[in-house]
Amino acid sequence: MSDLKKLEAELLGAVAAAGDEAALEAVRVAALGKKGSVSELLKTLGAMTPVERKEKGPLINGLKDKVTEAITARRDALRKAAMRQQLAADTVDVTLPVRAAPAERGRIHPVSQVIDEITAIFADMGFAVAEGPDIETDFYNFTALNFPPDHPARDMHDTFFFNPKPDGERLLLRTHTSPVQIRTMQAQKPPIKVVIPGRTYRCDSDQTHTPMFHQVEGLVIDKSSHLGHLKWILAEFCKAFFEVDDVKMRFRPSFFPFTEPSMEVDIQCDRSGGEVRFGEGNDWLEILGCGMVHPNVLRNVGLDPDEYQGFAWGMGIDRIAMLKYGMPDLRAFFEADVRWLRHYGFRPLDFPTLAGGLSI
Ligand code: DAH
Repeated sequence: MSDLKKLEAELLGAVAAAGDEAALEAVRVAALGKKGSVSELLKTLGAMTPVERKEKGPLINGLKDKVTEAITARRDALRKAAMRQQLAADTVDVTLPVRAAPAERGRIHPVSQVIDEITAIFADMGFAVAEGPDIETDFYNFTALNFPPDHPARDMHDTFFFNPKPDGERLLLRTHTSPVQIRTMQAQKPPIKVVIPGRTYRCDSDQTHTPMFHQVEGLVIDKSSHLGHLKWILAEFCKAFFEVDDVKMRFRPSFFPFTEPSMEVDIQCDRSGGEVRFGEGNDWLEILGCGMVHPNVLRNVGLDPDEYQGFAWGMGIDRIAMLKYGMPDLRAFFEADVRWLRHYGFRPLDFPTLAGGLSI
């Protein structure tokens, strides 16, 4: 066998034996690269006599073409094989069970659920939702709400204060949602009808108190709203929220600096069977504070109390959530235990509406 035939057999053998693209590339460089065996042969053509060149030229070039073709074909085959392997590895077993989507597995916290229920009920009565900051100034949390300086009612609230700023002002964590009454009345003209859900803070902690808790505030300001309207609104709310046909309510005189007169509202219930039932029984349960907005509060936001009047109320959300859904310990609300949330939480796509049902 001539040297050329031997080289050809060697090179084609190496091409066929290359197991992957990297090995094939090494064969290509060894044959056709700058210093490759075939390239070196091509270089010898220049020094040959014309007769010799006429004989060897086609042979050497033929070898180059054959090797090039073999490499291209082998590369193609290797790529196809790699693709087949990848496709085989990527196949999906469509017979495996489907994993539940996050929207199915997640749960809505009972407090969020109850806030959604409350806002759905009041939205149906024409109320808008307003919100305000958790970090407040003394002015919004107390002064504008008619708490006199050094009045003992400020101490009632067990306020969390921040360190004083250089100018001496101390910011605080709002102790109630009432400051948002002031912000709302500053931001919009009457008639005003808002509910204000949100987080509130007091330095207090036991089985029924946590340092952070939730309230919902209501505020109605116009020229004619009175306590009769307030009673009707609260009764309608209680029936809708507790999903009963009738609730008995009791209004007791009370004191808040920002209302006059002020009242606390109890609802009738039955606690004899270990759980609380509404619309029956001989027990009373306090659920909220309310009253007619104090003339000083109206003056503090630039409204003339001889022209405008209205009422407000404030209610603890966590406690009515405990009552409605039979959750005995408030502290568990904020422990972020997924087992508790799985048990008491709500399905995210069951958004509460009056038409569709609040809690189903
Ligand atoms: N802010 C009061 C509290 O946290 C609750 C309250 C009472 C709110 C009477 C009101 C109201 O708007 O009119 O104890």
